Amino acid sequence: MFKNVIVRVPSKHISEGITSAHEGKPDYKKALQQHENYVSALTKTGVNVTVLAPEDDFPDSCFVEDVALCTSKCAIVTRPGALSRRKEAALPDMIEALNKFYDHVEYIEDPGTVEAGDIMMVGDHFYIGHSARTNEAGGKQMIAILEKYGLSGQMVEMKEMLHLKTGLAYLENNNLLTAGEFKTAPEFEKFNKIGIEMDEAYGANCIWVNGYVLVPAGYPKVQKKIEDLGYKVIVVDTSEYRKIDGGLSCLSLRF
Ligand code: GLY
Repeated sequence: MFKNVIVRVPSKHISEGITSAHEGKPDYKKALQQHENYVSALTKTGVNVTVLAPEDDFPDSCFVEDVALCTSKCAIVTRPGALSRRKEAALPDMIEALNKFYDHVEYIEDPGTVEAGDIMMVGDHFYIGHSARTNEAGGKQMIAILEKYGLSGQMVEMKEMLHLKTGLAYLENNNLLTAGEFKTAPEFEKFNKIGIEMDEAYGANCIWVNGYVLVPAGYPKVQKKIEDLGYKVIVVDTSEYRKIDGGLSCLSLRF
């Protein structure tokens, strides 16, 4: 179960966020409203939500998932691979919030790069995507830190997706949503895989929170598959975040 969540209100320059999507620029006011709705949805699941103030100089800074890995034993502050995002990990209010919740806060160091959107937690084990943003040195540092606390990790080679959790969502009880390159990846054979079709691939970025699954609005086939598994679904509109390659998991740290 998760007790706490950390989010950050979007920057007023969110329209300048890194993107590979060709869907236009996010509308700032709409993004703010969607963020409020996201926080309300999380609150329904029983977590306490810490809302950090916007950092206007960092257009992607609402995607707090990338700047830290929050485990049951420690928090690990990352070193984002995207240069425009690197300093997001050192923002003082985030470090302060992590130190409030954790006795142990560790750091990924140069030459390592990690964005924790590339990391999927399954109990005490962590799958770490080797992506354009997370390098081998970063992955190795992450695994060494995890092992220091009795946790474990392994790297997963990636070819196409931005982040590991762009195409994977672990819904507990061995249920794993898979899209794109992860549908056939050997690392995930042992799971009950729920394959997501290409036309709804963005919908694979769902989050399990305390028995609920938050699902992005506009992906009815994904929603039905999750409902059929017996989960309580909360639909949240993330249209403005999608325009800059962000989704439900990217917008929070859950622990
Ligand atoms: N715009 C989200 C990212 O590229 O990190």
